[in-house]
Amino acid sequence: MSWRSASNLAWLRGLSGIREKEPLASRTSFGIGGPADFFVELGRAETIEKVLDGCRERVIPYHLLGAGTNLLIADAGIEGLVVRVVTREHHVEGTRVRAAAGLKMMRLARIAADANLRGFEFAIGVPGTVGGAVYQNAGCWGKELREVLVEACGYVPGSGSKKWSPADLKLGYRTSALRDGSLKGAFVVEATILLHRGDGEEARTQMAKLTRERNETQPIKTKNCGSVFKNPAGDSAGRLVQAAGLKGMREGAAVISKLHGNFIVNEGGATAADVARLIEGARAEVRRRFNIDLEPEVELVGRWR
Ligand code: EPU
Repeated sequence: MSWRSASNLAWLRGLSGIREKEPLASRTSFGIGGPADFFVELGRAETIEKVLDGCRERVIPYHLLGAGTNLLIADAGIEGLVVRVVTREHHVEGTRVRAAAGLKMMRLARIAADANLRGFEFAIGVPGTVGGAVYQNAGCWGKELREVLVEACGYVPGSGSKKWSPADLKLGYRTSALRDGSLKGAFVVEATILLHRGDGEEARTQMAKLTRERNETQPIKTKNCGSVFKNPAGDSAGRLVQAAGLKGMREGAAVISKLHGNFIVNEGGATAADVARLIEGARAEVRRRFNIDLEPEVELVGRWR
């Protein structure tokens, strides 16, 4: 049965700040994706929880959006309601930092350094939000969120507020129970990380060095979704794509970066279908040449088929 009953549509249209057929491309780092049937941007966790409970009761599909990184939204858009999480609070309590889901990881890295805390410098290389980082145990330079995460507060529509330990979240290499397991559909409200005291100036110097490095090896100033594939055990997806001679391969305005083989760049006007063809093409060629099946890290959402 469709969720588009008159009463459901009336409920959605009654939500404060709601927009219909809202283009999503500009809300993703890729600059790609069709519209959300309904779209709302919310900055208070309690409001998000109420809206998600409402969706659950009415069987309206919903999708939680953060910074729109690591995401490939279908050209036909996303069914139901897209909630963009823009909660931004943070609290520094000694060496513990609590941060709301919508805060950017890069911003939190600077906040931690300004509070003379160390151990979070790697987050300067993570383009998404805190919520997105919990969702897929984001990381950079060999460090991952799970190394500093103490606890996450969450909300399961229909079941209420939760506190999750890292073990509850089943954090692995770019995976969690939120992304791939029993907590699918749950909302990350905030994360608590534990850092250590140190010199903020040193942290800032290290972050500047790491950013320079990333700038030299990744096309960070382009429209992209971050790493397209997960690294297979003991190898690098970028190296494999390069070795298969695929750098520069193109579908429409989507092209495999010449700088880093694990990036696809939207040169302007690329469609999700272009990117999906490029991903499948690269995957097939790497499989044919090296008998390795690259697993996408980028998440495909919306109306594919
Ligand atoms: N390499 C090539 N050709 C390429 C790209 C890389 O030969 O086109 C080689 C490099 O020379 C290096 C090795 O592959 O020897 C690894 O490359 P790199 O250091 O660039 O790291 P990566 O494994 O490709 C990972 C993360 C990135 C993260 C960087 C830096 C994954 C899939 N990627 O990349 O994460 O920024 O390390 O720490 O885990 C992301 O997840 O979105 C992301 C960008």
